[in-house]
Amino acid sequence: MELKRERDICILAHSYMCEEICEVADFTGDSYALSVKAKNAPQSTVIMCGVRFMAETVKMLSPQKKVILANPAAGCPMAEQFDKEVIGEVKKMYPDYAVVAYVNTTAELKTIADVCVTSSSAVKICRALPDKNILFIPDINLGTYVKNQVPEKNFKLLSGGCPTHAKIEKSDVLTAKSAHPAALFLVHPECRPEVVALADYVGSTSGIMDFAEKSDGKEFIIGTENSIVQHLQFKCPEKKFYPLSKDLVCHNMKITTLPDVLSCVLGRGGEEIVMDEKLRVQAVKCIERMIELGG
Ligand code: 13P
Ligand code: SF4
Repeated sequence: MELKRERDICILAHSYMCEEICEVADFTGDSYALSVKAKNAPQSTVIMCGVRFMAETVKMLSPQKKVILANPAAGCPMAEQFDKEVIGEVKKMYPDYAVVAYVNTTAELKTIADVCVTSSSAVKICRALPDKNILFIPDINLGTYVKNQVPEKNFKLLSGGCPTHAKIEKSDVLTAKSAHPAALFLVHPECRPEVVALADYVGSTSGIMDFAEKSDGKEFIIGTENSIVQHLQFKCPEKKFYPLSKDLVCHNMKITTLPDVLSCVLGRGGEEIVMDEKLRVQAVKCIERMIELGG
């Protein structure tokens, strides 16, 4: 703690990080909250404990800062699913559609998006956009959820998605609910529509945590990465939290360890994010618009 202050370092940790990393972080949250914090953090160096697109987002918003991805191997497979050329071709097919990109995309892909969204801001931003027609990339599950919440607009969706959340099936929910009939079911919108349809609450990682903490309910089935089950159990020992499935584990998020974070603080580890200025200027526009519309 002392060391990071001496070295003017801010540690940001996505909520999927393990408890011990969250404890040393200056701020923990969902991807929207991390983007906003990144913009306002006063420190000259930011260590991002999360996946690559999150560190890229920090660099885009704070080019003057040294931004370090705590473990260089931490990527998000969804972010790599479509490249700029493919989406460029799709855009030509739908010239009158605004491109709304989930933040889980590469910096390069963001250069051709009109606005970025996160799971906690997607509905609000799609509603607030002046455009009637929306090409939502890349997550078909989040896109379907947003489309259902914003019926007044026309959506075109692609077939991308999160391999961790998308593998969960309706039968997993039915099994968990029959094992814990009194539990409320909270789910991330990256899950399939038939899974989301059975939920008592749908929201981002932070949304799920807030809901569970404030709820009068005593038992919860957690339909997102299993680290959230641990964090909630730690925060609310009087309540009970059950994983929707033992397979709800994102190995990309799990790759970062506390020793990785220490190596970064000591200046010996991680990867410094370097971004071409022209690419950054183009890509950051859709993130700034997200923050402007997302509030
Ligand atoms: P949040 O926006 O809920 O943090 O989600 C990020 C993510 O990668 C979920 O899989
Ligand atoms: Fe990417 Fe899914 Fe992991 Fe989130 S949980 S970082 S969307 S692979």
